[in-house]
Amino acid sequence: MKFNIINVRRIFLDFFENKGHKIFTGGPLISSEDTSLLFTNAGMNQFEDYYLGYKKSHFSRIVTSQNCLRVGGKHNDLEKIGYTDFHSTFFEMLGNFSFNDYFKKEAIFYAWELLTGINNFNLSKDRLLVTVHYQDYESYKIWSEDIGIKSDRIIIIGDNKDKINYHFSDNFWQMNNIGPCGPCTEIFYDNSINFSDKIVDSNVVYSKRFIEIWNIVFIQFNRDIDGSLIPLKIPLVDTGMGLERIVSILQNVYSIYKIDLFNNMITFIADLIKCNDLVNISLRVISDHIRSCIFIIQDGILPSNEKHGYVLRKLIRRAIIHGYMLGIRDSFLYKLVSFFIHCLKLNNYLIKLDVNSISSVIKSEEDHFSRTLQKGFLLLNKKLISLKTNVLDGKILFELYDTYGFPIYLTKEICLKNNILIDFIKFENCMSEQRKRSRMYNNDTTKLKFNGLILSNYSSVFNGYINFEITSKVLLILVSNKMVKDIYTGQKGIIILNETSFFFESSGQISDIGILKNNNGIFRVDKVKKHGNVIFHIGVLISGNLSVFDIVCSSIDKFHRKCIEINHSSTHLLHSALRTVLGEHVVQKGSFINHKYFRFDFFHKKSLTTDELYLIEKIVNNYIRDNISISTTYMNLNDIRLNNIIFLFGEKYKQEFMRVVKIGNISYEVCLGTHVKRTGDIGFLKIISEKGISLGIRRIESIAGKYAISYIQSLHSKINLFSKLLNSNFNNLENNLISTIKNFNLLKKILEKNKKDNLNKNIIFLKKNIEVFKGVNFLFNYLVNLDINDLYKIMYILIKTLNKIIFFLFTNIKDDYFFIFYISKNLNYLFDKKELINFLSSKFNCKICFNSDIGNFRIKNDYFIDDFVNEIKYWIFGKI
Ligand code: ALA
Repeated sequence: MKFNIINVRRIFLDFFENKGHKIFTGGPLISSEDTSLLFTNAGMNQFEDYYLGYKKSHFSRIVTSQNCLRVGGKHNDLEKIGYTDFHSTFFEMLGNFSFNDYFKKEAIFYAWELLTGINNFNLSKDRLLVTVHYQDYESYKIWSEDIGIKSDRIIIIGDNKDKINYHFSDNFWQMNNIGPCGPCTEIFYDNSINFSDKIVDSNVVYSKRFIEIWNIVFIQFNRDIDGSLIPLKIPLVDTGMGLERIVSILQNVYSIYKIDLFNNMITFIADLIKCNDLVNISLRVISDHIRSCIFIIQDGILPSNEKHGYVLRKLIRRAIIHGYMLGIRDSFLYKLVSFFIHCLKLNNYLIKLDVNSISSVIKSEEDHFSRTLQKGFLLLNKKLISLKTNVLDGKILFELYDTYGFPIYLTKEICLKNNILIDFIKFENCMSEQRKRSRMYNNDTTKLKFNGLILSNYSSVFNGYINFEITSKVLLILVSNKMVKDIYTGQKGIIILNETSFFFESSGQISDIGILKNNNGIFRVDKVKKHGNVIFHIGVLISGNLSVFDIVCSSIDKFHRKCIEINHSSTHLLHSALRTVLGEHVVQKGSFINHKYFRFDFFHKKSLTTDELYLIEKIVNNYIRDNISISTTYMNLNDIRLNNIIFLFGEKYKQEFMRVVKIGNISYEVCLGTHVKRTGDIGFLKIISEKGISLGIRRIESIAGKYAISYIQSLHSKINLFSKLLNSNFNNLENNLISTIKNFNLLKKILEKNKKDNLNKNIIFLKKNIEVFKGVNFLFNYLVNLDINDLYKIMYILIKTLNKIIFFLFTNIKDDYFFIFYISKNLNYLFDKKELINFLSSKFNCKICFNSDIGNFRIKNDYFIDDFVNEIKYWIFGKI
């Protein structure tokens, strides 16, 4: 049998299914909003809550094939792409998981059986080598005594000495800087010709000779924010094997870029761009990056400057630059999409979006970036030309890299050609600032605050879809993030109940507000959040006191809830109407729903016309008038996919069964949010704005229910007011307004003409007033009620037409006189202008603005202006 992606994936899943594992679909590639990861980086991500004990799995043995992306955060392979044979940004991770079931022995035995079994992968045992963590003697013993591996083929790996923290080792796996982690044992494949060569030390393991194929992690801890390891209660196994890697070994090609899939893609690019060098690094990078981009875009991400969109943008740009290095100057990446998707589909990858949608995203980023690239080149050139030394500021290198996506080596190369050095220290400083900022993002989840403290010990149930008042028990009170027994009047805090009627912030929806009360006290709930399985009621105790174990009534503000429901159901109707009017490519990109209005962001390239908006609004209002019933059911992921139900990646959908909200046959969406019972409850919807918020993403803002009515009423009352002001009735308003504007424009024209005539008159008058003294022309004149612009206009006309002139013109502005003055350049020999400025400023105690020949100043009008002008005049006459 020739091993390929499809059958290796199948063999893996079947093997573990036969060992009692439940086959699970891989989780979404885009990580849930509440984790510190941007993209799924391992098969275990979707089970994080099980590992931490926040949730219980219905199955103790699970097997998956998970799409992963390692382009940032703790596991980042970006810089290695193309340079190694085994790294790719996107890959599929095959993994088996045990929750409180088997542990080290079975996990190791299963892996060995699958890799070496004659009916399985049938790899030569002599070519395999394993590593174990230095404190994991149990695994060592299993490998050596039970499996029978020779001791020189079991390498013990310690902590990395350069890391200060305990257990930072290549054989201690962590999902991220915080979260589930534990020691691991890894299986490597010896790729040397004479594979019986001695292994001198552990460094050899990480050389090209060995290919890491399978990582078996024994998750035993949760690493807290302070670095400490909190032991987990139950033994857990998490394993990961790169599908493309194992296929490359089974196909004896020993490079993922040589397996069928990549080979076809690389040959296609090479043909397209007429490149003969099939092992060129740039070809590998392009094929890797575009494959990743296809998966990212199809999960609803578009290029942008933050988070997921930033990563996508970076990948497209890197691919473009590698194209550049291959001599390509036109857009070409988008031409790869169709063939790549074809190849991926041949390998049974699930591709939902059509070729056009994906290639058009790539094309528009390509077009956009080639302009940026040009700008980068221009910026660099400009900086190089204006350099005073032969060192380029490291900040510029950083800016080019960070803002323009200009590769560092390109800048380096250009500098090298121009004999310019680069200040790398400054560059490094900028980079480390940048890293700090991104680390802040990685660690910035409110989840951390409660991590370890309570999350694994408490859980609360939301039961408030239809029950607005529920009797429940206070499990925990936090004041200033510390557990307390009681909370008193005036204190802000957090209360956790066993059961609640309060909906928490999620699905784009704000939380409920309301009160928790009993005979002793009332706690006002301002906000509700959920972390893990725990629901936090955040607010203030407004009277009396409450204590842990109290029985309270959790009572939400029903009116507030109802308003939110109206808006949430409206988003589903709007989503459906948008797809009807604009097309199926409209994918929701986000939403925000509160009690007053909602925002709905979606993927669409053009701005919407007024007709389109009116049509969409009409369709939604028709749905509302049809008073369609809204129902909810629960479905598993497979059924959801089979029924083509809309669900957004990036949301937290980790349950086996997910809530689906159905509005007649109009809308079918996975959604946790709260909804009205029938569309008629919405009453009325009005779109209030539509705009682009980033490349390819539009935003509609809309209101519904009583807020929409108030909005229409306020528009109506404004129109009434305008009618009154225009002395018109409603029907004539438009005509009246048009004729008023016409009249206004006519008057404006007349006014302009008058002004011009005045200006000319003034100029004629001024020219007549010129005094000549010792061959120099002088003008000292007051022009009544001119505005400053006109004064300047006059001055410029005079300057153009008169030679050898000194003039002071001034006008009255409020309580001041505003002066402008001018001294022809060819009179410089007469006196030092600085002296004149000093004279003016000391005499009249004001600030003089002067710029070589033109100046201005402003003085109070309590001077005797004639005397004042005379003083200036005689000062100047005295100088010549
Ligand atoms: N979670 C482990 C890894 O990604 C298996 O290597």
